[in-house]
Order: sequence, then structure tokens, then C-alpha cells
Amino acid sequence: MTTILLPVQVMIDGQPVDPQQAAISVFDWALLRGDGIFEAIRCYGGRLFQLDAHLARLERSAALMHLDLPDLSEVAHWATAVGEDGHECTVRIVVTRGGDQPDVDSPSRVVVIWEPVPETTPAVSVRPTSAPWHSGGKTWELVGAKTLSYAPNMSAWRVARAEGFDDALLISRDGYVLEGPTFSIGWVVDGNIETPSLDLGILESITRMVTLEEAEGLGLTVDEGRFTLDRVLEADEVFALSTLKEVKVVDRVGTTSFEAGPITGKLAAAYTARVASEAS
Ligand SMILES: Cc1ncc(COP(=O)(O)O)c(C=O)c1O
Repeated sequence: MTTILLPVQVMIDGQPVDPQQAAISVFDWALLRGDGIFEAIRCYGGRLFQLDAHLARLERSAALMHLDLPDLSEVAHWATAVGEDGHECTVRIVVTRGGDQPDVDSPSRVVVIWEPVPETTPAVSVRPTSAPWHSGGKTWELVGAKTLSYAPNMSAWRVARAEGFDDALLISRDGYVLEGPTFSIGWVVDGNIETPSLDLGILESITRMVTLEEAEGLGLTVDEGRFTLDRVLEADEVFALSTLKEVKVVDRVGTTSFEAGPITGKLAAAYTARVASEAS
């Protein structure tokens, strides 16, 4: 008998599953209500970057959502197996509320999948977009949770694409710059870095955290606060931050163009060096 070794591209509740056959129930609340949480982790040469930070955020999201999680060391083990097999990839962890019959509670499911790294461009353009659905600093029970309910963000991205931009830049009801649908934002004014503060209810981005640590190491000053779009438009450099974008030049915000600048270059190089030294 021949043993067929499946590539570990999909694990459901810790079991490797043939990607073509991998499935969860159509009655799962994650499908029916977007009721679940997720993480996307970049894997460099088979090594996951900032795995512990992603797992800690997953745990915080699960707590805010009252969602059961297996032991984090198990989830780490599954993500590592998928990453090792995927080598240069993104590892996505999705925790669904569960459900395999209508209106019957059942345990949450943990899906870990391999994804190819999307092709990226050297710079991105962003369309300022009003985001009335965003906390924008108002407190409510899910602030900080990375939930599966991303439809408004994805819609903002889609509209931006339809209008000739790469992505959206979300603006709060009070007129403050927040974040992109799937990234954080920062910019440089007179050599100082400015970025929206976490108390605006933006996601606690791990790329933002690493980049600000690197900025500090480079002796750069960072001002985290509440800024309106005018402030971004008068910046010398603008950059986007995310697990997939890493540190990325923003070359247009609405109708205002920006050059790639020296500080963004330094931050990008520092981030790359950090990845090289740390991906574990
Ligand atoms: C809304 C939002 N902000 C920021 C980010 C960037 O977070 P990270 O750097 O942890 O990828 C993401 C990532 O998906 C996001 O969804």
C-alpha cells in the first residue's frame, strides 16, 4: 500500500486535511454571521514572524468574543507545521463559533491554512474613506478584537479599487485618520513619525508595534495621537504597515502625491533586518 503524504496546507482542529476536501459546516456561525476571529501570520522561509504576538492577540480576541480556544501551545504547533510546509507563505488561523445544525450550539473550530504571499507593488495609493462603522475611539465590547466581521472594511477596499486606488484609508466620524481596512498608517513630518493612537480603536497591529520599536532604536521620535487628514496631506512621507505589506511606501493619498522618503526607507530596512534575526 502506498502512503500518500499530504502537504500540510490545511489543518482543522489539529488534523491535516486534503485542501480540496477541507470543509466546515454550512451551519457554522462564522459563515452565517461572521462570528469568529482570525490572525494572518507571515512565514519567511518556513519560520513564522512574531508568532507569540499573533497568538496573544488571538487569545485577546477570543476572550472579547467569549470564544473557546484550544491550548495556545497546540495552536502554535499547528501554525508552525503549516508554516514549515508552506515555507514562504502566509499562515491564517481562523477560529469559528462552530455549529453543524441550525440553532444547536457546538464547539468552536480552529482552521489553519496556508496561503501564497500576494504579489505586492513597491508603493500603494489610498482613498480617504469615511468609516462610520469604526469605533473611532468610542468604546464598545469588541474594540481590539480581530473578528471575521470585515465586510465594511472589504467594501471600502473594493470601492477604492473601483476608483483607481490600491486601498482605502479609513476616517472616523469625528474626522480622525484611523487605519486602512487591513493595515496601519504612519507618516513623517519634519523628521518625526506620527501615527494614529491605539485609543482610536484601531487594531493593535503587530507590524506597527515592531516598526515603532525599530523607530525608537533608530533614535526617531514617534508621536501617537489623533490627527485629521490635513496633517497627513502635509507630511513629507507616508507609509502603510501590515503583516503582508510590511513597511510600504504610500505614494498617493486622495489627490496628493508623495515620494518614497529616507525615513520610510530606514524603517523598511530595520523591519527586514528584524525579520531576518527573529523569524522563529
Ligand atoms: C484593520 C487592520 N488594521 C491593521 C492591520 C495590521 O495588523 P498587523 O500588523 O498585525 O498585520 C490589520 C491586519 O489585518 C487590520 O486588519
